[in-house]
Amino acid sequence: MNRLALYANQLAHHLTITDNRTGKTIEVPISTSRESDFIHATKLGALQYQGQPLRVYDPGYMNTICCTSKISYIDGDKGILEYRGIPIEELAEKSTFVEVAYLLINGELPSKSQLQEWDEKLRKHTFIHTDASQMMKSFRYDAHPMGMLISTLAAISTFHPEVNPALAGEGVYKNQDIVNKQIYRILGSLPTIASNSFRNRIGREHNMPHENMSYVENFLYMLDKLNEKEYKPHPKITRALEVLFILHAEHELNCSTAFVRHLSSSGVDIYTAIAGAAGALYGPKHGGANEAVLRMLEEIGDLKNIPQFIKDVKDRKKLLMGFGHRVYKNYDPRAKIVKQIAYQVFEITGKEPLIEIAIELEKIALSDPYFIQRKLYPNVDFYSGVIYRALGFPTDMFPVLFTIPRVAGWLAHWKEYLNDKENNIVRPRQNYIGPEKRNYVPVDQRKEFPIYLESNKSSRQKRRETATLS
Ligand code: CMC
Repeated sequence: MNRLALYANQLAHHLTITDNRTGKTIEVPISTSRESDFIHATKLGALQYQGQPLRVYDPGYMNTICCTSKISYIDGDKGILEYRGIPIEELAEKSTFVEVAYLLINGELPSKSQLQEWDEKLRKHTFIHTDASQMMKSFRYDAHPMGMLISTLAAISTFHPEVNPALAGEGVYKNQDIVNKQIYRILGSLPTIASNSFRNRIGREHNMPHENMSYVENFLYMLDKLNEKEYKPHPKITRALEVLFILHAEHELNCSTAFVRHLSSSGVDIYTAIAGAAGALYGPKHGGANEAVLRMLEEIGDLKNIPQFIKDVKDRKKLLMGFGHRVYKNYDPRAKIVKQIAYQVFEITGKEPLIEIAIELEKIALSDPYFIQRKLYPNVDFYSGVIYRALGFPTDMFPVLFTIPRVAGWLAHWKEYLNDKENNIVRPRQNYIGPEKRNYVPVDQRKEFPIYLESNKSSRQKRRETATLS
């Protein structure tokens, strides 16, 4: 397209908005992208009425773009996911998690020597400070592994004050070497932190990382090695987990990734930002969904209970966990691959009985008008939990298995955010509907408003309340 045609095209793509409160008309240019056309919300601020600018209201960011990104692309209607343009199916078939992390964070696939250097750097950072390891041992025996992981990531920030913007100055992340170092440290140490949280739960000493194993193999090694001289995880199990890591590594602006950008916008250190994002991932509507799926399948317990469960979902008493997605209105491309991996894993571990319930649930849901009309399809979490169960992971480890790979995506967004000229502090506006200005009333002149102040009481508390106190 020549310059004149391009200019004419740009002029053609705009909204003409007339504000019938004031009669004012503005033209708002429409920008185009591969995913969707959009307008800049701030342009609407030109429509002022009684001194107030016009704003957009969008709880849950249902229709809001908040950044420009080159990391991953999703076409939710067609069920397409690409990392830096490469289809997820190809990466799952041909790549490794470490290579995918490089691709996501640095933008291109590495050359042979770059991959070797990257791999070595990650390996060097698999060891965590003994104080962090010691701290992890102080959690209660039944602490949720995500609670341990989140707290440890936040605690590790205190070990590196020299690269914390709050202490070392806001410009500290302008230094690319410092940014790279935090990436190596976080990616490298995650399997160690995650396996420590598992070892705590099973009452075993933490294992030291193995020097000659791949990222995923080393993780399995640290989880499971006891007193054997040589311990080598089964290569097919390593590959299955590797593929699951690739599938979970990145998914554009989901709740937790958006939170990394949100937190980073305050200038907080990357360890705290990653811990915060892991907190978002922990929720059952997000990364905790695989755990919730397993609990749901266990609750259903038998094929004969499925019709009643589906009825409860349609009566809005329950959610069909592992179904539905904000972006995919088609089969999640990751779910297809996960379903295949399930059968590969069963060849080694034996079939996990809950798979029968999952398959029947999927079959019924995909043919039921309630789910068809709402375009509810299985998402990545629907089958991953069944695989993790077959591999012997306790249910509360599932979100941890999601967090480890997703950190690669978070770090990619952090790096992109740091280099984004539009990276303003995130500060949404609210629609205030509270009281108008009024005066403070002294306590003895106040009218009492009925406010519910009860909180739940344990049986122990109730028993204590029957005691005579002096
Ligand atoms: N079971 C039953 N009904 C559902 C479900 C579900 N899992 N998901 C959505 N719906 C219904 C919902 O009630 C609504 O119905 P109506 O229009 O009659 O009110 C309609 O479908 C649209 O749902 P929505 O809540 O507007 O969709 P959303 O984009 O806000 O929510 C979601 C997406 C993932 C939070 C939701 O589908 C959900 O809660 N799913 C179950 C949890 C889950 O599997 N989460 C993992 C997501 S994938 C991995 C990740 O990103 O972490």
